[in-house]
Amino acid sequence: MSEGLVTVSYIGAIILFVLTLGGLSHQETARKGNVYGMIGMTIAVLATVFGPEVTSNIHLIIIAMLIGGSIGITLAKKVTMTQMPELVAILHSLVGLAAVLVGYVNFMDESISFPTHAEKVIHEVEIYIGVLIGAVTFSGSVVAFGKLSGLIGGSPLILPARHWLNLGLLILSIWIGYAFVQQAETGGAMTYLMIMTAIALLFGIHMVMAIGGADMPVVVSMLNSYSGWAASATGFMLSNDLLIVVGALVGSSGAILSYIMCRAMNRNFISVIAGGFGTDTGAVTGGTVEDQGEVVPVETDEVANLLQNAKEVMIIPGYGMAVAQAQHTVNEITKTLRNKNVNVRFGIHPVAGRMPGHMNVLLAEAKVPYDIVFEMDEINNDFPSTDVSIIVGANDIVNPSAQEDPNSPIAGMPVLECWKGTTTIVLKRSMATGYAGIQNPLFFKENTRMYFGDAKESLDAVLKELQ
Ligand code: TAP
Repeated sequence: MSEGLVTVSYIGAIILFVLTLGGLSHQETARKGNVYGMIGMTIAVLATVFGPEVTSNIHLIIIAMLIGGSIGITLAKKVTMTQMPELVAILHSLVGLAAVLVGYVNFMDESISFPTHAEKVIHEVEIYIGVLIGAVTFSGSVVAFGKLSGLIGGSPLILPARHWLNLGLLILSIWIGYAFVQQAETGGAMTYLMIMTAIALLFGIHMVMAIGGADMPVVVSMLNSYSGWAASATGFMLSNDLLIVVGALVGSSGAILSYIMCRAMNRNFISVIAGGFGTDTGAVTGGTVEDQGEVVPVETDEVANLLQNAKEVMIIPGYGMAVAQAQHTVNEITKTLRNKNVNVRFGIHPVAGRMPGHMNVLLAEAKVPYDIVFEMDEINNDFPSTDVSIIVGANDIVNPSAQEDPNSPIAGMPVLECWKGTTTIVLKRSMATGYAGIQNPLFFKENTRMYFGDAKESLDAVLKELQ
């Protein structure tokens, strides 16, 4: 493939990646966005592998791609929707590792020559920064994977003077970077590169270990951003414009997503990164069941009656809907109620579930019409005129203590104010806490009814009753 054709392919791929991001920002166009991304990536890979830069050993690249591709397909087929954040985290670690390896290979490659001293120094700085970001991304993502999959506990690891430790590591890395560039003239720079890599790996581990369970979503999107910058730095090392642009797209979109999520959880980005918030999943830290009074359990027939006698119903899905895979039954109930002239709408919290857009994906899969699915900000004022809110396996996102208890770990987080409606029905299996590990006073309110059981089984029974 000629250089001109490669350039044209790269420009085409970049346009497709920009269209991908545009497509992914709306539920209706997300599928199209994914297709753009797949076509763009295929063009990018083919143009790179068959471009003029690759002069030998193409067969090895193709074998490696076949092995990697097969592992990817097997993993993607096996992984369930609720394991997606873990998969994303471990994939980020590969981007980080690739940046580190490319950095080392680039540094050891003696065939690269530079016309001026300045260009050589710039190249060394690129290598140093690429390896630094790559190593932080790698070890941070491995720890994030461990935490999300339960291999490592969710509690934050708080070392004494940890901010000073981080600052010290940062200053040390800058100083080693200076020594690395100086020594590159005389040899011996490899030792500095290796010391910095070890520091960056420790920094990545420490950074993510210090972050508690409830802040993990932000960490995953932040690592997504880091992996983008690592890819961009690799692009500079390899003088590959496509990688620079795509890395910057991933880096900035990950950073914007982190910001949006921080806002949705009312967390300050710096305080998330500084860590120390959140507890183990399931641990009750805010009040106890006895503290809050009695709950009112209900049976299937009462739930069905409440729903079909309502005019306005709001369905609030959460992580439990994903676990139970109840989305199809939810759609069937929606159809049945709408046929009975009940106005059914969905309220989606930005961090419901375990990844951004988790609920939207499930509802789209079940073919719930897009025009009755609303973001939190769009419907939060409508609860006073809602007859029945039905909470399908959600907990933290409908916790009034975010507004009422300034000492709650989720204080200030915007929540769906379902308790302002006439009746709230909560579907869950037990009185266990949600992700943030805190008790929910909603369950004890006078107008709340607890419908215990697996969300799918419970809703199947309600559907039968409604029909
Ligand atoms: P959670 O607060 O985690 O609550 C989920 C509830 O679902 C649990 O209380 C659980 O209670 C119930 N449940 C689990 N399996 C069930 C089943 N089979 N049937 C019925 N109920 C079931 O979920 P949420 O309200 O969606 O809030 C999300 C939380 O996750 C937030 O704290 C958020 O910060 C965090 N988070 C979000 C993300 C993103 S980006 N969305 C990523 C990671 C973490 P039982 O065990 O009693 O059934």
